[in-house]
Amino acid sequence: MTFLFSLLLCWIISVFFQSIKSILIPNIPLPSPHLPPPQLFSTRQPDVPVPSFPFRLFRIPYLPLGRIIDFMDPDALISLSFCSRKSHSVIKTHRRAPFNGRLCVSGYDNNLSFRTFQNRNCVLSVSSSYAYITNKERKEMEYVRMNWMYVGVYRSNGNLVLRWYGNTTDGLEETTNYVTDLFNIDVSEVCVFKDAIKMIKWVNSIQKTPLKKMVYMDWGVISSEEMIYILRNCTTLSEICILSKSPPNFRFSKKFRNIDCLDICYGQWVTIKNLLTMDGIVINLKRSTLTNNDLNVFLKHWLSGGCPRLKLFRARTGSVDIFRVLAGLLHNAVFVEDRRDYTSPFGHKCGMDMTFDVRMV
Ligand SMILES: *[C@@H]1O[C@H](CO)[C@@H](O)[C@H](O)[C@H]1NC(C)=O
Ligand SMILES: *[C@@H]1O[C@H](CO)[C@@H](O)[C@H](O)[C@H]1NC(C)=O
Ligand SMILES: *[C@@H]1O[C@H](CO)[C@@H](O)[C@H](O)[C@H]1NC(C)=O
Repeated sequence: MTFLFSLLLCWIISVFFQSIKSILIPNIPLPSPHLPPPQLFSTRQPDVPVPSFPFRLFRIPYLPLGRIIDFMDPDALISLSFCSRKSHSVIKTHRRAPFNGRLCVSGYDNNLSFRTFQNRNCVLSVSSSYAYITNKERKEMEYVRMNWMYVGVYRSNGNLVLRWYGNTTDGLEETTNYVTDLFNIDVSEVCVFKDAIKMIKWVNSIQKTPLKKMVYMDWGVISSEEMIYILRNCTTLSEICILSKSPPNFRFSKKFRNIDCLDICYGQWVTIKNLLTMDGIVINLKRSTLTNNDLNVFLKHWLSGGCPRLKLFRARTGSVDIFRVLAGLLHNAVFVEDRRDYTSPFGHKCGMDMTFDVRMV
């Protein structure tokens, strides 16, 4: 009986869920679209009647209501939260299930997304008034209240987009505050385009749990000051990915702190001396200038217990002479011809064939 009941409840919930999704996603009824843009900056609430909620979602008892809310996608919940103060508070109170992925704020894309290794689910994009907007999008745009401001929202290529009249950085910050407050979560990752120090400091200032991961995306050159801040000062960052060019003649002279995952696209500056002070789980270097001899030294260091947490070390160098890399270690090495695939704890995938297993003997 209990079983049948739960089955029925699940069915009801999924039916609700389907219909809610289909009501919400294409066209959520929002407050009056006729507010002129200047009022966007108003911190006072303009005289707009609070819309009466058009469907009876909130008449559902709390338990199934919570389940329905847990089922809904983050961007649908954001849309729903804009409908009324009640919808906002119901979501804030009843959303319980953990989200799939970690919240990432991207100053590069100007959007917030939930990220896992496999995918990236956009929650909300921020677009400034200079950016391109189609006539259709302009027509569909609705003005909604976010904190104490009125902002325009519309859907573009399936993403919920918030139109911010003014500085995009401010818009992204305001949006982040709204989303983290609504879902009661912290930002785990930032994707930085410029001003890494400012962005990291800002995220760490708005929340208690420190930021875990940073991706630096600028296609130009990152400054030495930022490199030092990321690698040394900001001790809580445990996953670092730098896609930008490193400053010419950059050197890191001190001991490395523990960094679980270090991905460096322009890794010319990483010396064997640096490597011997690292304690990482993944170390992934592109454009590396490490020599066969350096790799040999590092391998011996690892075999004698150095870098104990290491799961993946990958360095892309110009060419490799495997016999020099394995010098003095051939009796530890076993050749394996078959292809092997490996996925690191941080999602790096490597396919390898014709490899050597090197073990302590
Ligand atoms: C936002 O995120 C989505 C994927 O989640 C991505 O495709 C898109 O390019 C991002 N940027 C903007 C401005 O929408
Ligand atoms: C936005 O404001 C920040 C400072 O608050 C400034 O550094 C940045 O250049 C501004 N961006 C634009 C597009 O005006
Ligand atoms: C990084 O740390 C050094 C010394 O600990 C300090 O002098 C420097 O101001 C810090 N940098 C930033 C950007 O906070």
